[in-house]
Amino acid sequence: MKFFVDTADTADIKALAESGLLDGVTTNPSLIAKSGRKILDVVAEICAMVPGPVSAEVAATDYDGMMREAAVLRKIADNVCVKLPLTPDGLRACKTLTGDGVMTNVTLCFSAAQALIAAKAGASFVSPFVGRLDDLGQDGMELIADIVQIYDNYPALTTEVLVASVRHPIHVVQAAKLGAHVATLPPNVLRMLYNHPLTDKGLAAFLKDWAATGQTIA
Ligand code: G3P
Repeated sequence: MKFFVDTADTADIKALAESGLLDGVTTNPSLIAKSGRKILDVVAEICAMVPGPVSAEVAATDYDGMMREAAVLRKIADNVCVKLPLTPDGLRACKTLTGDGVMTNVTLCFSAAQALIAAKAGASFVSPFVGRLDDLGQDGMELIADIVQIYDNYPALTTEVLVASVRHPIHVVQAAKLGAHVATLPPNVLRMLYNHPLTDKGLAAFLKDWAATGQTIA
């Protein structure tokens, strides 16, 4: 499973990229707004730090506007993935851009039918939002199961399932059990993947016993 980080905070991305375990980055207009920076500057900086796909979302809602914005975004770097909303115009832009060899991420997916049409439009990634469905009292992970099953039925579909709106490590584990290709995680959730109290307790005991030996390794 690939791990992307869902943020436009470049300090956080730099720190997480140093682990060598970061496969990509996703941003959205809300995250760019939170960064307080200009989209072109922040996306260029992220693309230079992380070699994998970096999703940058269009703000236009009409096909021509999306295509104009996509032309600007794709010029930032080869690893820019143009993020488009799951609307008729967004999917039309997705189809055109995919045909032109541009990576695309179709976002704001909340149903299996939407995921199917996004795949038909040739999206490189589809982003179902599990947390926002959970917030409504629905089961976001059921949507992931449906999409993975549907895509598996049609091996010609190459769209990767990018689980978004992830709120905690259990979402990540459940998505991995279902065979989702990618999870994009807020930095705090990505850091949580490392943690277990028994790891901390066990390490403290090992270090205490080791100190008592008086030995060094290097
Ligand atoms: O970037 C899309 C998605 O991950 C947003 O998540 O937490 O705003 O529902 P959230």
